[in-house]
Amino acid sequence: MLFRETMLRVAGLPAVEQFVIGGPSARGLVRRFVAGETLSEALGAVRELNADGASATLNLLGEDVSDLAGADRARDEYIRQLAAIAAARLDANISVKLTQLGLTFDRSVAQKNLEAVVVRAAEQDCFVRIDMESSTYTQVTLDLFYALFERYQNVGVVIQAYLHRGSSDVEELIRRQARVRLVKGAYREPATVAMQRKQDVDRSFARLMERLVEHGRFPALATHDSRLIQYAIGQSHARGIGRERFEFQMLYGIRRDLQADVRRRGFGLRVYVPYGAEWYPYFSRRLAERPANLLFLLSSVLHEARDQP
Ligand code: FDA
Repeated sequence: MLFRETMLRVAGLPAVEQFVIGGPSARGLVRRFVAGETLSEALGAVRELNADGASATLNLLGEDVSDLAGADRARDEYIRQLAAIAAARLDANISVKLTQLGLTFDRSVAQKNLEAVVVRAAEQDCFVRIDMESSTYTQVTLDLFYALFERYQNVGVVIQAYLHRGSSDVEELIRRQARVRLVKGAYREPATVAMQRKQDVDRSFARLMERLVEHGRFPALATHDSRLIQYAIGQSHARGIGRERFEFQMLYGIRRDLQADVRRRGFGLRVYVPYGAEWYPYFSRRLAERPANLLFLLSSVLHEARDQP
């Protein structure tokens, strides 16, 4: 967790961001995690996943949008995604971030944009997942979600197991029978808000997963942690819970071997497919999750430096 904390801090420095975005070294690694810059490239990735038996959730990269025009553009792109999913009859839904739809500067803008997307999705029986961002936004995200969920059922939210509040939020979501994606959590958070030790986060994920699989409504267990995946499968067998009652979710380009394994064993798998030009914050969270990714990036930088005339 110390590596992750340090990486997120360093990646957040403007000079580092400029260096990574400006140089060619990161491109190869970015393409491993990001399906492309355009919707049509992302749709190509979704088609391939569907052909392999996996569902997808499309995400337009971008967060902390600071102006109305930007938030409206993101909303329109999500509506284009929905149209494309319907036209091509893809097995896909969409994942949105509220700070991309205006939450950073005006809650009512985010609410209006989110509702426009959810209404459009409902017309074609498609589902919208609201990603969870840093803890500054947890309560407002849940508030906006609860308000919308009273009127539309095709929307769900994400709970981060590292947050101390995770357990009470999960109980409330179970009570409302709302759909939850459970994740460990990807942001840099203080100890007052989130668990700092990996084993505590893993334990929390396992506990929340048990609750959701047994009592939740079609939970999504989003992890590449093979031990937790095995644990979920064991628990579901032990409690007689059918595989149609939950799904696993993983990120595009991560642990493809595990993705294939989960599918081969007959469990539902949905892959999160991000695309777009605003890849840096997403990419830096993926780097922070695994030292090997950083080493790979550093070795590309060193190779380039050596190859300079
Ligand atoms: P963990 O980090 O312990 O990794 C387990 C194993 O997975 C590692 O040993 C390694 O093999 C592999 N692995 C994990 N990350 C890797 C990487 N970057 N590169 C290569 N291998 C890697 N978070 C959030 O805060 N809000 C959200 O809305 C979402 N949404 C979301 C959707 C989906 C579908 C997934 C899978 C994840 C998220 N996340 C998220 C991210 C989540 O919080 C978490 O940061 C990552 O999933 C990594 O944690 P793991 O559960 O995979 O475990």
